[in-house]
Amino acid sequence: MGYFATRIIAWQRQHGRNTLPWQGADAYRVWLSEIMLQQTQVATVLPYYQNFLAHFPDIATLAAADEEAVLTHWSGLGYYSRARNLHRTARDIMQHHDGKFPSTFDDILALPGIGRSTAAAICALAFHQRHAILDGNVKRVLARYCAIAGYSGDKKIEVQLWQQAEALLPQQNIAIYTQGLMDLGTLVCKRSKPLCTLCPVQTDCAAYQTGQTAQLPTPRPRKPLPQKHSTFLLLLNGSDILLQKRPPSGIWGGLWCLPQVEAGQNIDTYCMQHFGGMAQKTIALPVFTHTFTHFNLHISPLLLHWQHQPRQTQEPGSMWLDVQEALGAAIPTPVRKLLQDIHTTLQESASQSINIS
Ligand code: ADE
Repeated sequence: MGYFATRIIAWQRQHGRNTLPWQGADAYRVWLSEIMLQQTQVATVLPYYQNFLAHFPDIATLAAADEEAVLTHWSGLGYYSRARNLHRTARDIMQHHDGKFPSTFDDILALPGIGRSTAAAICALAFHQRHAILDGNVKRVLARYCAIAGYSGDKKIEVQLWQQAEALLPQQNIAIYTQGLMDLGTLVCKRSKPLCTLCPVQTDCAAYQTGQTAQLPTPRPRKPLPQKHSTFLLLLNGSDILLQKRPPSGIWGGLWCLPQVEAGQNIDTYCMQHFGGMAQKTIALPVFTHTFTHFNLHISPLLLHWQHQPRQTQEPGSMWLDVQEALGAAIPTPVRKLLQDIHTTLQESASQSINIS
C-alpha cells in the first residue's frame, strides 16, 4: 500500500473521529448521515440525525410517512430538496429494491440526490467497497497534497482531482481510509491556517514542501452574490399567525412560509387584494440577511396586527396557527427565527399582563 493511504489509515485510527453514531451502522443510516452532511457540519447534523431516526427508524417507515412529516423533522437543516429526495428514494427502494438499500455503486448512484462522491462514500463506509470520494474536504486535501492549482469547480481540475483520488486508494481498510480523509480535511487540513505540524502526510505534501498551503486550493473566482430583497408579512391575530405553503419546487419548496411581498409593493393594497382588509397596527421589525449559496436575501419583516382573521385566508395552502404550534411545523430557518422572536414577545407580554392583574 502507498505511503499516503498507510499514513491516513494509521492516523485515523489514532486521531480521527471514531464515535460518530453512523460509523459501522447499516446502509440506511450511512446514507442518511451522508445526505445530512452535504453542506452541513457534523455538530449541526448530530441532533437532527438522532431525532430523524427516532421518527423514521428504517426505510419502510420513512417510505410510509407523508412528506409533511419528513420536512418537519428536517426543518432547520436547510436545503430541503435533500429531504424530499430522501423520502422519494425510500419509496423507490421499497418499490424497486424490495425495501433493501442497494449495495452496488451503480444502483446507489442511480438514486435521487446521490452524486458520485456520496455513492462512493456509502459504498466505502457501509459496504467496504473500494471507491474514491471527492467532497469539499477531500478536494482541499488532494489539491494541497498533489499541488493541483486551479478552481476545483472547473471540469479540468476536477478530473485531475478524481484521478488522484482513485490513484491513492488503498487495497484494504477502505472505510477507515475514507473516514480518515474526511477527518484530516476537517481537523487538520483546514481551509485557513492548516495544522501542518499535526499532519500525517506532511513530509510528502507538495503544497507544504513548496510553501503553497495558503494559496492552495485555488479559491472560486469571486463574482459578487446577487442581492435580493423581500418583505415577510407576519399577520398576527392574538397569538395566531398566518402561514402559506410554498409550491413543491423552488426555494423552500413544500415548506410553510410567511406571505412574501416583493420590494416596492404597497402593503395596504396587497392586504386589501389578498386578505380583504387592512391591519389595525403595523410594525417594521429589523431587517436581516439570509445567505443562500447563490444569493443573499435581505428580509424586511413587517408585523401586522389584525383584530379579526381577515377573509380569503382559509383557502388551501394557507393556515392560521398558534405561534408555538407553528414552530413545530416544517418552516425554513429565517421564518423560525422570526416566529421565535414573536413567541418570546407574546410570552413576555402575557406574563406582564398576569403580573399587572
Ligand atoms: N462529511 C461527510 N461524510 C462524513 C462522515 N462520514 N463523517 C464526518 N464528516 C462527514
